[in-house]
Amino acid sequence: MKPLARTVTGVTASGIRRFFDLAAQIEGVLSLGVGEPRYPCPPSAKAAAVAAIQGDNDAYTSNFGRISFRQAIAKNLSARYGVSYTPDNEILVTTGVSEAIDIALRSILEQGDEVIFVEPTYVSYGPTVTFAGGKPVALSSTAANNFEPDPDQIRAAVTSKTKAIILGYPCNPTGATPSREVFEEIVKIAEEFDLWILSDEIYDRLVYGVEHTCLSSIPGAWERTILLGGFSKGYAMTGWRIGFACAPPAVIESMMKIHQYTMLCAPTISQIACEAALVNGEAHVQTMVAAMEKKRDYFVAKLNEAGLECAAPKGSFFAFPSIVNTGLDSEEFTEELLKAEKVLVVPGTAFTSWSGDTRTGASHIRCCYAIPDEDLEEAVCRLTNFVKVRV
Ligand SMILES: Cc1ncc(COP(=O)(O)O)c(C=O)c1O
Repeated sequence: MKPLARTVTGVTASGIRRFFDLAAQIEGVLSLGVGEPRYPCPPSAKAAAVAAIQGDNDAYTSNFGRISFRQAIAKNLSARYGVSYTPDNEILVTTGVSEAIDIALRSILEQGDEVIFVEPTYVSYGPTVTFAGGKPVALSSTAANNFEPDPDQIRAAVTSKTKAIILGYPCNPTGATPSREVFEEIVKIAEEFDLWILSDEIYDRLVYGVEHTCLSSIPGAWERTILLGGFSKGYAMTGWRIGFACAPPAVIESMMKIHQYTMLCAPTISQIACEAALVNGEAHVQTMVAAMEKKRDYFVAKLNEAGLECAAPKGSFFAFPSIVNTGLDSEEFTEELLKAEKVLVVPGTAFTSWSGDTRTGASHIRCCYAIPDEDLEEAVCRLTNFVKVRV
């Protein structure tokens, strides 16, 4: 057999998978592992989907997505963040933010172009940059700085080959939610070196006590930003697979070409459901976000009581506590916790594989607290049991 493509074989599968496979063999596991809200989606979305199925909405949509949906997205972004996108040619509906990240990178990268991002990071940025022929340049961040990006470090990492910066805030896995000032500094760097910014704002609705900064609302950012948003997290609709990209027309046209030839369009019924969620689901989202904030407060307090140091993240539904007090590294911690107490978390190393900064990954775990209260309480009991004999 001739060998498989080296760009793909050279990338390792997500570090999360080994533990998920292990957990699947054990009965009664409580999962703080998967990054999705265990919360119902807006009733308006369900009703619209049922009506769409009954009404025989079986056909493809425009490659860009339904125009009424794009109009609703434009209206929502304008009302929420004051940013302006033309539904006709500046918005593309995608199959989740996952597809949007991939086709955005493929639209802007030439072979060998460098892309800067900050670890701990969402697992797909490094691999998708690589698949698109680019070179990931991963910087590190620390708990001391709440895992926020450091503009000076970004500036120092720019070379003649740098093409783009990926920002993903609020952050999966740390929950880091930097202030507007930090983003303004980064936009200045992007302007100075003429870089694209890929801003993955999938957690924009999940912020607590602070306002989300929409990157393209920062002066000087709009023309160089590809803004990504979606329905998986803020609307609890991971399985519906809908995301969107907003960018200047030439970028959207390029992304649409890849989307047209590889996806054709995002699923029609899901587009209809997500439009209904957007237009008629706000109260539901607000109730969910309030519930997540309570879970965060409870969970982070319990982690600290147990001896796992963790500052309260201002966004997402993840906590990223330090486990150094236990004397275990994050992979040992994850495996032993799973076997001893049947609780699944994700080792920090899954989010730090590109920078070579092994310390942060080895000394932290990611916990998704977006699970029903009774499960969260039980998981806390088991986690506390596990930790108390080790700290
Ligand atoms: C930061 C981030 N971006 C993108 C995605 C993918 O989202 P989607 O379900 O819209 O493909 C995730 C999912 O975990 C994520 O955490």
